[in-house]
Amino acid sequence: MKLVVAKDYEEMSKLAAQEMANVVQNKPEAVLGLATGGTPVAMYKELIKMNKEGQVDFSKVTSINLDEYVGLSGNHDQSYRYFMNTNLFNHINIDKTKTFVPNGLAEDIEKECKEYDERIANLGGIDCQLLGIGNNGHVGFNEPNEELSLGTHLTSLKEDTIKANARFFNSIDEVPTQAVTMGLGGIMKAKKIILIASGEGKAEIIEKLLKGKITTQVPASMLQMHNNVVVIVDEAAAKLVI
Ligand code: F6R
Repeated sequence: MKLVVAKDYEEMSKLAAQEMANVVQNKPEAVLGLATGGTPVAMYKELIKMNKEGQVDFSKVTSINLDEYVGLSGNHDQSYRYFMNTNLFNHINIDKTKTFVPNGLAEDIEKECKEYDERIANLGGIDCQLLGIGNNGHVGFNEPNEELSLGTHLTSLKEDTIKANARFFNSIDEVPTQAVTMGLGGIMKAKKIILIASGEGKAEIIEKLLKGKITTQVPASMLQMHNNVVVIVDEAAAKLVI
């Protein structure tokens, strides 16, 4: 894994946006795997700026998101579809019909998961997957467990994840307890992975990600086995590894 340490959140966001933009500049019809959460917000702002300034063209790009809460419609302001529309897609020249987020309201979740994986395969795989990382080492919503799943699947969120995500909701009781997430297989098959993290709160998990044992209890540790991962963090998140 290649580690890039940025001065602060802003610089981390700019470096990550540049890295993602390079992928699209080299392959205009790239398939981008995207993430939500607090960390990528400024990176997406930077990509919007680059798109408006003509430095990166998303017109031929397809995007496929990591995850979605079960029970929230795409119009719910805490759904990941809504997040993607408002933080990125509404402001760039991407064709919205080529942006995919799992359907959290699917009646048949198993079918939704199967079709999501088929879609990724039919697209020829993911050229570049963006990841954040949970304090507990989750990527997407692949939570620490005895076993991890290869494909897209329904998962129950761990208590620490529900607590961490409660900051986006009016109260912790409103946080969905289940999600549909791409599995470790889908993520590991991406040709390139960019993982971003910022702030002191992520320092311990970044140390485990880079130097810890490979274990299902730290799902992100699997990334140690991928041959094209760039970890872009700010100094605070890197404080235990530099
Ligand atoms: C979001 C996702 C999650 C987040 C992680 C970090 O699509 O898959 O794994 O990347 O929970 O979230 P933040 O960035 O809010 O710290």
